[in-house]
Amino acid sequence: MALLTYKDRPVDLAPGETVLDALTRAGVDAPSSCRAGTCQTCLHRAVEGTPPPESQNGLTAAQKALGFFLPCVCRPTQPLTIAPPDDAGARLEATLRAIEPLSHDVVRLRIETTPFPYRPGQFIELIADDDLRRHYSLASHPDEDPYLELHVRLHPGGRMSRRLMAEMKPGHRLHVAGPRGTCFYEGVELDQPLALIGAGTGLAPLYGVLRDALRRGHRGPIRLYHGARDRKGLYLADELQALAQSRENVEYIAAALDPDAPFGGDIAALALAEERARVGQTAYFLCGGEGLVKRLKRDLFMAGASMKAIRSDVFSAG
Ligand code: FES
Repeated sequence: MALLTYKDRPVDLAPGETVLDALTRAGVDAPSSCRAGTCQTCLHRAVEGTPPPESQNGLTAAQKALGFFLPCVCRPTQPLTIAPPDDAGARLEATLRAIEPLSHDVVRLRIETTPFPYRPGQFIELIADDDLRRHYSLASHPDEDPYLELHVRLHPGGRMSRRLMAEMKPGHRLHVAGPRGTCFYEGVELDQPLALIGAGTGLAPLYGVLRDALRRGHRGPIRLYHGARDRKGLYLADELQALAQSRENVEYIAAALDPDAPFGGDIAALALAEERARVGQTAYFLCGGEGLVKRLKRDLFMAGASMKAIRSDVFSAG
């Protein structure tokens, strides 16, 4: 086996040569700038094999867990298969096994496919057709669920939504690709407080992160904040309340913007008021629309949270 493989192609690597130099010599158009392991321009991902630790200096725990490394300072001694950082992974055939309502406008899809490694909270690309693809976060857990679970908000004008409503029934064939994203449980201490804050179907990755944290024996307090426009949008509320009651370290806080809802309030304002006193210790996971995530990031940072402590995933409508 070649010491270095780029996608499916073996690349000649001279003794002591860096991966970046070998790629360049082989005609691969690999980006670079500092060539000294500081700017991260050359970032790549190992899809097989483990990059040497010195080639991962300065990367986040999530990036390291996903195999990201810096080719300009990487001199592998073990076989390594690598890909560009945004390589979405193999396109896999998949079958829709269940589609069920979670609220008036959110459905849960359960999708069966060849098992592949992922972390709850990452997202995949759901491919209905070559020109109809959308990203959705994974609420399922690879060690617990025999399917991928996605929460999809149905937009009356959205092409994927229309396709789901009109055509997709259990047994429907489609494709998935991925996983991608770094908003998952990694790089946190077991006793560290966690705050998971999201709105709408931003709950899906947070639900995945929560499940993963509990499965890994997280002992610190976990506060899950979920916001919606109105009470009907607070899907899975009963299940999450029951979970919070059964776990000493889990708190579930829900709020709907509709002032007449039983839990009226702006989830971002509520979470910020609650979290302000704890920003020094807490790891944050933020998921939802761009406005919400940007606002939370800015306000948590202004309150003293380190950007390193904040993981986020921004959703767009579709
Ligand atoms: Fe700057 Fe590799 S080129 S880190």
